[in-house]
Amino acid sequence: MATERTLSIIKPDAVAKNVIGEIVTRFEKADLKVVAAKMIHLSREQAEGFYAEHKERPFFGALVEFMTSGPVVVQVLEGDNAIALNRELMGATNPKEAAAGTIRADFASSIDANAVHGSDSPASAEREVAYFFSADEICPR
Ligand code: TYD
Ligand code: MG
Repeated sequence: MATERTLSIIKPDAVAKNVIGEIVTRFEKADLKVVAAKMIHLSREQAEGFYAEHKERPFFGALVEFMTSGPVVVQVLEGDNAIALNRELMGATNPKEAAAGTIRADFASSIDANAVHGSDSPASAEREVAYFFSADEICPR
């Protein structure tokens, strides 16, 4: 399996619930390594640019509103098959459909406040990592 990097965001609802550590523990227990991390309160422009692919969707305004409602923790996770593995750990977008034991099943309250983001493909991982981190902010381990 290939070593990959993926972009993870612990969203404002999970930060407000004070479960940053519990979520990072899920990543570490699955052998994903944190190779970059920062806490940011996203600006409207940052959130709109990050979710540009959803610009025409009916939920876009609410999504940007939510993502700018409080600080987030943005991380680069590295490991074998990191992109799909992180998506598995996260569970389905709608926490009502998320498998038991996934991050969203355990910490998300609704489809719009769903605790975490994870890149969904190698192309989006590359774009999303570069959106938040310069090369010298990533620490290979
Ligand atoms: P999407 O990329 O489809 O989901 P995922 O985060 O699992 O990759 O959507 C991005 C975010 O947009 C999603 O995490 C929450 C929000 N969203 C809604 O609020 N309502 C919706 O119906 C959908 C599909 C997404
Ligand atoms: Mg997505």
